[in-house]
Amino acid sequence: MAISISLTVNGAPVTANVEPNTLLVQFLRDQLRLTGTHIGCDTAQCGACTIHLNGRAIKSCNILAVQAEGADLTTIEGLSHDGQLHPMQAAFRECHGLQCGFCTPGMVMSATALAATHPDLNEADVRAQLDGNLCRCTGYHNIVTAIVQGAAAMKPGVAAAAKAA
Ligand code: FES
Ligand code: FES
Repeated sequence: MAISISLTVNGAPVTANVEPNTLLVQFLRDQLRLTGTHIGCDTAQCGACTIHLNGRAIKSCNILAVQAEGADLTTIEGLSHDGQLHPMQAAFRECHGLQCGFCTPGMVMSATALAATHPDLNEADVRAQLDGNLCRCTGYHNIVTAIVQGAAAMKPGVAAAAKAA
């Protein structure tokens, strides 16, 4: 029997009926049509499905939609504002931090959550902290460079100056 859930997704209130066994990633992709959140495995290993739940990066294939009742979710679609890429997205573009792009939404969502709590990220931090996000294309070098650059651009003073420019 379907269950009604209410939550916030990318700043907008959402109420929907979901089956008790619907995964959060299925809810986002199939019911809300937010297909930027990808499914790259069925073992909770790849990180392609990473979103933010109440500000924390989580793998949305690893929890049920009903468990997100009342939560504040951000998906990759909610990251940019006023037509401007988020600084982490811009860094991925500048540093060529992708090839096919399949892993990229999950990488960016993990990276933004990490940078928000660790503003002085270095390469070793990124490699250690993003081991839950897999890329089958790039060899990771440019991804790591992009995340370090994106984290630097997210620092409050830097972000405010970029906005004012
Ligand atoms: Fe969620 Fe791979 S689809 S970790
Ligand atoms: Fe292809 Fe990462 S860019 S999987």
